[in-house]
This record gives sequence, C-alpha cells and structure tokens, in this order.
Amino acid sequence: MKTKITGISAYLPSKVVTNDDLSKTLDTSHEWIYTRTGIASRHVSADDETTSTLAIKAAREAILKANIDPMAIDAIIVSTTTGDSRFPSCACKVQGAIGAYKAFAFDLNAACSGFIYALAVADSMMKSMHLKNVLLIASETITKFVDWTDRSTCVLFGDGAGALVLQSSNDDSSGILATKLYSNGEEDKFNAILSHNGPQNDHRGYVTMAGRTVFKYAVEYMAQSMKEILSENNMTIDDIDWIIPHQANKRILDTICKMHDFPIEKMIITTENHANTSSASIPLALSETMDKGTIKKGDTLLFTALGAGLVWGSAIVKL
Ligand code: UT7
Repeated sequence: MKTKITGISAYLPSKVVTNDDLSKTLDTSHEWIYTRTGIASRHVSADDETTSTLAIKAAREAILKANIDPMAIDAIIVSTTTGDSRFPSCACKVQGAIGAYKAFAFDLNAACSGFIYALAVADSMMKSMHLKNVLLIASETITKFVDWTDRSTCVLFGDGAGALVLQSSNDDSSGILATKLYSNGEEDKFNAILSHNGPQNDHRGYVTMAGRTVFKYAVEYMAQSMKEILSENNMTIDDIDWIIPHQANKRILDTICKMHDFPIEKMIITTENHANTSSASIPLALSETMDKGTIKKGDTLLFTALGAGLVWGSAIVKL
C-alpha cells in the first residue's frame, strides 16, 4: 500500500505587507530584509481571520481537486503552532465546517517542521489503521504571535495555509516513499534559541529568536537529514526532481546548497512573496509551483524542514 497525494491546495490572506510598508513603522529597510532573507513581502491575516478559517479555505479547495465527498474523509490533521485557542483544535473546526462528520480530527504541533511530521503521522496511521482518505492541512497565523515592534523577528514571518488530500492505494508506483524525523530539546542548547515566550494564544507572549544560531543549525540539520533519508533509501540527489524546503530564509537555502553540494536549480524557493509561514510553507510552495506547472505528476520531491524544539526532518514523495 502507498499513501498518495490526490489533491493539493493553498490559501493566502489577501492583505500583503511589503518591506517598504514595514520600513514606515520600523527602523528597517527593504535592502536589509531582502539581502539577508530573500523576503520582499508577506501575507498577513486580517483581525477576523484565524488559523482555522485559513485552513478551511485551503481544505475546501483540496477536496474539490481530489474530487472526494467530505463524508469519505477518515481523519483530519491540522499542523499548527498558532491555533485559534488552546482548545478546541483547529482540526475539529475544519471537520465541522466542511461536514466531514465521519473523520476523527486533531492538531499536531511540530513548529516549522509540522508539515513533515504530519505527513509521517498520516502515512503511518493510514497503513496501521487502514484509513482510505486523510485530510492534512498546515495552517499558520504566526503574524498574530510576533512583536510588531521587534525588527529582528517580525519582518521574517507571514501567514497562510496549505492542504493535501491523502489517499491509500494498491498502486506502489507513486506516493510517500520515506519520512525521517528528529528532535532535540536540550534546554540550554536548543529550547532557548527559538521560542514563543508566552502561553498559546496569549498575545503578551511573542516569538523570540537567536537568529544567527538558528541559521547555523538550520543549515547543518536540514542538510544532514536530506543526506540521511537519501542514503537510507538507496537514492541520490539525482533521483530527486525538486527539493521543497521550509521557506524560512533564502540565504539558509543558498548556504545549504553551497556548503553541502545540493543543486540550487532543484530547490523551490518562495520566500520572496510568502516569507516564513512556519509549517504551512512547504505545502504553500508545493501548491504554487504545481499550479504554475513547474512541478508535475510523476516528479519525485524531497521535503525538508527545521523548527523550534529543535525539530527537523525530511520526506520523499513521488507524485
Ligand atoms: O524556521 C526558522 C526561523 N528562523 C530563521 O529563519 C532565522 C535564521 N536567521 C537569520 O535569517 C538571520 O540571523 C537574520 C535575518 C534573522 C538576521 O540576520 P543577521 O545577519 O544574522 O543579523 P544580526 O541578527 O546579527 O543583526 C545584525 C544587525 C544588528 O545591528 P547591530 O547590533 O549590528 O547594530 C541588528 O540590530 O542588524 C540589526 N537588525 C536589523 N536592521 C535592520 C536586526 N533586524 C533588523 C532589521 N532591519 N529588520
């Protein structure tokens, strides 16, 4: 049995904030942000938009593309670090909104690596629990959790959601080929360098980050996990058509390619207009590049991400 992706969609809030917009209220500039991150603009959710409203929009479209009845969905997983509230889960809100009343639903939090974690969980659940259809959404409104007066963090983030319909199939020629997950929560070394310093949905707390340290680990660990998943599956980078990394920062991706010999021409980079949308960034990049026709059915994709925890990992999928 293989888990196949049969519907892919995304949703971005309509409000776009450019670097020039930010420079009107912050001591920053387009030049500083763009040269260090590759980010030119980001989508920012409106006050009445939440992680679940973004997730519902992306999910509805993915279901249409997969052409399935919501009542045929067995499970819904929402990857998010920015849920509407501590409970209920965004996944339950999605279930109710789309009428997938036969699905069990839960949220999963693995920070910016959440999409890869959710893909691994969905794939193994589908095999062990014999599920036919799973809806996987990564949705984030991280701009509601940043300090808009802190130029060292707020310029980096944006909001959005990506949704996949996953279906189990007897055809082994495509689907999720491999997933590999890692975590390291050593307090002094990793917890402190990237965190939200308040309770979930408590807007007295904000994202804090030791940017240079995170940069170093992002390069080293994403490269290591890509190398390991390839070698463990007797593959090389030549077997991969496209690498879709977490879109935190273009300079991190350039450095991975330079230091670890990954081909930059195979790397999908959407940081320019999306910024860092945490766990939503990979499905957003996938959906956008498939809509453009860059990525096609039959292509083999390598996903990789690193996020707060630290948590990181990679996955290989043949479309
Ligand atoms: O999912 C993982 C998420 N995290 C990341 O992707 C972040 C990884 N880290 C980075 O991308 C980089 O470390 C940053 C882009 C965040 C920062 O770049 P940097 O070259 O490491 O800058 P820095 O933090 O060392 O700061 C250099 C200077 C400082 O000024 P002084 O102390 O040298 O006078 C900062 O105050 O740049 C200043 N600065 C800014 N200046 C203009 C920091 N943020 C800004 C800003 N505009 N937005």
